[in-house]
Amino acid sequence: MIKGRIVGTGSTTPKRILTNKELETIVDTTDEWITRRTGIKERRISSDGRGENTSDMATMASLRALEMAGISAETLDMIVVGTVTPDRQFPSVACFVQKALKASKAVAFDVSAGCSGFLYSLSVACNAIATGSCKNALVIGVERLSSVTNWEDRSTCVLLGDGAGAVVVTPTADRDGILSTHLGCDGNFWNLLYSSDGGSKIPEILDTVEGKPFHLKMEGSRLFKKAVSSLTNIAEAALKHHSLSSADVKLMIPHQANLRIIKAVAEKLSIPMDRVYTNIQKYGNTSSATIPIALDEANREGLLRAGDNVLLVTFGAGLTWGASVVNWSF
Ligand code: UT7
Repeated sequence: MIKGRIVGTGSTTPKRILTNKELETIVDTTDEWITRRTGIKERRISSDGRGENTSDMATMASLRALEMAGISAETLDMIVVGTVTPDRQFPSVACFVQKALKASKAVAFDVSAGCSGFLYSLSVACNAIATGSCKNALVIGVERLSSVTNWEDRSTCVLLGDGAGAVVVTPTADRDGILSTHLGCDGNFWNLLYSSDGGSKIPEILDTVEGKPFHLKMEGSRLFKKAVSSLTNIAEAALKHHSLSSADVKLMIPHQANLRIIKAVAEKLSIPMDRVYTNIQKYGNTSSATIPIALDEANREGLLRAGDNVLLVTFGAGLTWGASVVNWSF
């Protein structure tokens, strides 16, 4: 059976670091509260002037992944981008990346699945590879959450950041590769995390025209409980599908929304924290980008070896969630 295998990873984050201490001067918060409740110490905020639009970050992460893979952009058949903060409502970020990379053979499109956008996109690419309709795929998770952040809302603005991660996926008939991606969704809970405007609902567009930027709204504590149960359940289902136990997981790379969520899930799965990758302290929650950034950092830090089982697990707006078991390839 043909599966996708990851042969290159790349990531980028904006230069501007916004610390908890600086946030104390913007909203009624403290470094102590943010650190204790979330684990976040700082996050990155992008700037148009520095060429850090969503598509710019996606392109930079992709170039790094392609370089590691030793694959030229002209050989790409597909570019899939998980994002909820595209440069424009249309065309897609993927089309801008295709243009920037001169990946003229590649079809390109975005996937909107909240913070689960990267794993949803990875699943699409792997399915295309398995059917033979695609050979070389570029899968990106990118987000510019600072563009939808309400900087007067202390309950959300302290959580979010910007960044991008990418992987190059090619076919394998060996035992390595992306063994599966399990996905889930429950639209009944859409109102726990959503953008209040920016869509096609006319009154909201008029609000936007009057100068209100798109605002992210979140019901944090209800979302927290949903996150812990959804992440745990989907991870367990993914491991069970392959008759794997937590002891078989070399590294879990979870969505980085809150360190307390990550610790609760790790405990429920019986995976010790020294086998759980976290970088939330540096970047906060970058939505679709958290997993590919963390995967790239873990890879470049030499934490992954061929044959290791890596568990990717995500949760986000929708609600959406997912887990992927990857038998590392290189
Ligand atoms: O990526 C997609 C998925 N995202 C998630 O799953 C996020 C899930 N939720 C969370 O991570 C947490 O719920 C938060 C970090 C958002 C909030 O933490 P919490 O422990 O659930 O706090 P809370 O919302 O229950 O608020 C506790 C208190 C409140 O004050 P009172 O009512 O107890 O007086 C808040 O007003 O903390 C207050 N508070 C703050 N205080 C200082 C809320 N935000 C802040 C803040 N600084 N930034």
